Amino acid sequence: MSAGGGPLVAEERHRFPGDPARPGPEVRRWLSPPAAQQPRWPDPVALARVHTDLATGPGLVDAGSVARLRALLAEVSAGRMRVVQAGDCAEDPAECGAEHVRAKVGMLDALAGVLRDHCERPVARIGRLAGQFAKPRSSPTELVEGRELPAYRGPMVNGTGPGERTPDPERLRAGHHLARSVLAHLADAGRGADVPGLPDESVVWVSHEALLLDYEAPLLRRAPGGGLFLSSTHLPWIGDRTRQLDGAHVRLLAAVVNPVACKVGPSIGADELVRLCAALDPGREPGRLTLVARFGADLVRTALPPLVRAVRRAGHPVVWLCDPMHGNTVRAADGRKVRLVGALVREVEGFQDVMLAEHGLAGGVHLEATPNDVAECRWRADEVPDKPYTTLCDPRLNLPQAVDVVSAWWA
Ligand code: PEP
Ligand code: CO
Repeated sequence: MSAGGGPLVAEERHRFPGDPARPGPEVRRWLSPPAAQQPRWPDPVALARVHTDLATGPGLVDAGSVARLRALLAEVSAGRMRVVQAGDCAEDPAECGAEHVRAKVGMLDALAGVLRDHCERPVARIGRLAGQFAKPRSSPTELVEGRELPAYRGPMVNGTGPGERTPDPERLRAGHHLARSVLAHLADAGRGADVPGLPDESVVWVSHEALLLDYEAPLLRRAPGGGLFLSSTHLPWIGDRTRQLDGAHVRLLAAVVNPVACKVGPSIGADELVRLCAALDPGREPGRLTLVARFGADLVRTALPPLVRAVRRAGHPVVWLCDPMHGNTVRAADGRKVRLVGALVREVEGFQDVMLAEHGLAGGVHLEATPNDVAECRWRADEVPDKPYTTLCDPRLNLPQAVDVVSAWWA
């Protein structure tokens, strides 16, 4: 059993109607190895119904757009482009309407513009968008106002209220509907991958952590050229808590033709990372694998160099992104999780110095950020926040803060 893994749900729950265009009963295969961070859905019949509906409906993104993003990331790996990947820690279902999506696009444009000015290259925009609805948690329970509750795992699993903590598979279906409507709003705004003639640089690509196997596996589809792709998103990533070499998440992403990403932090060693790269990028193909480094400002300069060196020696042409968020979370005096902009800037600076020294490809930044006027991250430790704190999970940068962090980019 992998760290944090729960027991697997029974195999019988993953039978799909036979359909030669879809993996059908094969989906069971993707659920068979140990799988960390999976909810214990209480109702297998309701879960099976959702599986069937997800598996038999149309995909959210098509194989052509997945291939386009993979080609674009190959440009990044050749050093000709950079990336801004940004969005909510967990998307809020109440913020998936047309106006919200437009604001999120505006934020990505603003950040890409800043990065472009700093690196003098075109910048690809990738949202944590249209499916970033589930969260891995360090502990299965949490204290809420003195009461121990099952952990909140994101809107696609359970609710924040004390009475809503039981996982509900109908939330998978609701998340899927929401993701579809976010993609439709992107298209309406003229910025989806399916907008005819839109240059790749102007497309807002979508990405999320491929965490819930009960959502991802039914959304596997066959690509026209053979092989499987995840129709749930253009760029799925594996989180730092689910990247076990023998785990279901690595096996799933190893099997798809999407470009894929994986978070790496201080708990990974060079040998393990090389094995992970071999699993996810056996062909050593530019654009296939993005590694998202999340070490924290204090560790990035010492822990990252041996990893960059090992991956380079193993011959994987990976894109490295800097996630300065997840290694720099601290508790404020009021008990809230916060992140200090100065620490994030320090990590972005350290990351680029490491890439330069170790000949890694500094591909860009991965941020948790929102266009909303919130005070979740702080400029100073002693700051008294005068704006709302509304994130469903980790503290996000507001736009001026995010601009400050991106402005630390020079590579
Ligand atoms: C996240 O990106 O929200 C996240 C949980 O990150 P990590 O897997 O790096 O901890
Ligand atoms: Co987060």
